[in-house]
Amino acid sequence: MISKDTIDQVLMRNDIVSLIGSYVSLKRAGSNLKGLCPFHSEKSPSFTVYPADNSFYCFGCGAGGDAITFIRKRENLDYPDAVEFLANRAGITVVRDEFNNKYTSTPKFDRAKMLKMNVDAGKYFHRCLFDDTPEAKAALDYFVNHRKLSLATIKHFGLGYAPNSFDAFSKYMLSRGYTYEELVAGFLCGKSERGTYYDAFRNRVMFPIIDVSGNLIAFGGRVMDDSKPKYKNSSDTPVFKKSRNLFALNFARLSGEESLILCEGYMDVIALHSAGFTNAVATLGTAITSEQARMMSRYAKKVIICYDADEAGQKAAMRAIKMLSDVGLDVTILKIPGAKDPDEYIKLNGPERFKKLIEGSKSKFDYNMENILSRYDISVPQEKIKALHELEKLISETYSSAERDIYIHIVSDTLSVDAKSIKSDVDRIVNATIKKRRREESSKIKQDAIGYSDKVNPDYIKAPAVARNEEHVLGLLLLYPEYRKSAFEQKMLSESDFLTDLNRRFFLYLKEAYARGDESLAGMNEKFSEDELGRIMRMKVARMGLTNTEGALDDAVRALQNSVRKKNSQSTSTFDDLNKLLSLKRQN
Ligand code: UTP
Ligand code: MN
Repeated sequence: MISKDTIDQVLMRNDIVSLIGSYVSLKRAGSNLKGLCPFHSEKSPSFTVYPADNSFYCFGCGAGGDAITFIRKRENLDYPDAVEFLANRAGITVVRDEFNNKYTSTPKFDRAKMLKMNVDAGKYFHRCLFDDTPEAKAALDYFVNHRKLSLATIKHFGLGYAPNSFDAFSKYMLSRGYTYEELVAGFLCGKSERGTYYDAFRNRVMFPIIDVSGNLIAFGGRVMDDSKPKYKNSSDTPVFKKSRNLFALNFARLSGEESLILCEGYMDVIALHSAGFTNAVATLGTAITSEQARMMSRYAKKVIICYDADEAGQKAAMRAIKMLSDVGLDVTILKIPGAKDPDEYIKLNGPERFKKLIEGSKSKFDYNMENILSRYDISVPQEKIKALHELEKLISETYSSAERDIYIHIVSDTLSVDAKSIKSDVDRIVNATIKKRRREESSKIKQDAIGYSDKVNPDYIKAPAVARNEEHVLGLLLLYPEYRKSAFEQKMLSESDFLTDLNRRFFLYLKEAYARGDESLAGMNEKFSEDELGRIMRMKVARMGLTNTEGALDDAVRALQNSVRKKNSQSTSTFDDLNKLLSLKRQN
């Protein structure tokens, strides 16, 4: 446990506006601030910061809490590490109680130590590449002769070689004071069913993965022949999350370019950097995530997608276009003629020709239009009609009507079809889509309203009326600390007034905090998950706009207790409730 004093201090010394403002650009809106949510992609800001009570809430995705919750989510840290992070930021020393592992079931590792372990491992692999053994020579030969990398490039990226041995690496690491437990947690060793340990990377050339701040956070290892799997990558560890990092972004952000080049493979990025395109990055063996898109938007205005030429690569490119334009980036796509990927293209044609490709990279519309036209013979009327329909559908996906107009004219010219008739087709598709979207949205709102799809408080569905009343009572207690006195001292409420698990736990938490004299509820992050904290924040912000009237709590408690009584006199079967909900949905 971290002491309440420390948490209070940490929260007090980290002004939430400047903290969140360093991640999100915030604009004043009355007494609060608004910005684009860093936890989901959105175009209009629903992420709100409340300086008055040091909290935040996103009306779009429901994320919410205090500065600690923000850092837990944003920096992907667990509770104690998030506190430590903020403490460091404010220059406070964190005092942890003796039994400090109580809050996590997995053993806790020191972030700093794991990062240092990775550096030691990276240096080891790099040294091994230059060993005087036949296998090390083969590895160096692979890089230099087979992949045509210079020694300078190998050094720049810190490439290495993991020896063909089950224990050479771990023996070395143990001698440097690391334990097997730490090596396993860092994904550098595995543990067999028999309980023995073995090196995770064996006989592979090694690619260190560095985060934006320059920490070595993970490794990718490639075989040197055609065996499978081609790459083995670190799984997520306490310091590494695949979906939140990009290979070579640490270099690319310093390239001085306004754009980033997004590739699929480590080797593509390395080839591009050594050919002078130092703004190239790659995802880490997964499709691009919205988090990665947001990261890129912090360092660039434009992204050039440069995926493999095969069908899989082109499909992935379509997905990337959407992800990247959703965060406001200009996106163009580059098609690689006569080679399977950028690495091969540069080797065959040199940097100058690649630069030409970049200059000729196409917008989403041009790229798709070219693809569609290449699939049909437009001199045949039937095929021309099919192409036209696909093009109309494509145009209808464009958000701006002015932009749609431009495309309509391009298609009209290309296919010699009257622009007016194309426009009326496009409008029809647009309207149908809007209608469909509305229907989907209203049914989703209904479902949410009756708690039909509530993952955070799964009990909600069993007693929606009660749950709503619970939230009202808890929201008032949270928003107006003065109510807690009457609620808890006059015992207006008891545990049995709460039928849903999350709300009952939160009630008990509030009650204990009151008994301890803890008004700021600073330790909440220790007891509730990130999603639960968001929900609790919602209970509060939903009531911020209301004017507080005298007796509001009395009324809320009475309503809650009535609904509980009613619920208890009814069936106790979940299935009855489910049936009722389903018939309710059918009626609507
Ligand atoms: P590629 O197969 O295109 O790899 O996969 P590459 O980096 O271009 O490698 P070369 O040119 O064949 O040597 C693209 C990326 O997908 C991930 C890696 O991050 C790779 O860089 N990947 C691929 C894996 O994680 N595992 C695999 O088995 C294959
Ligand atoms: Mn490749």
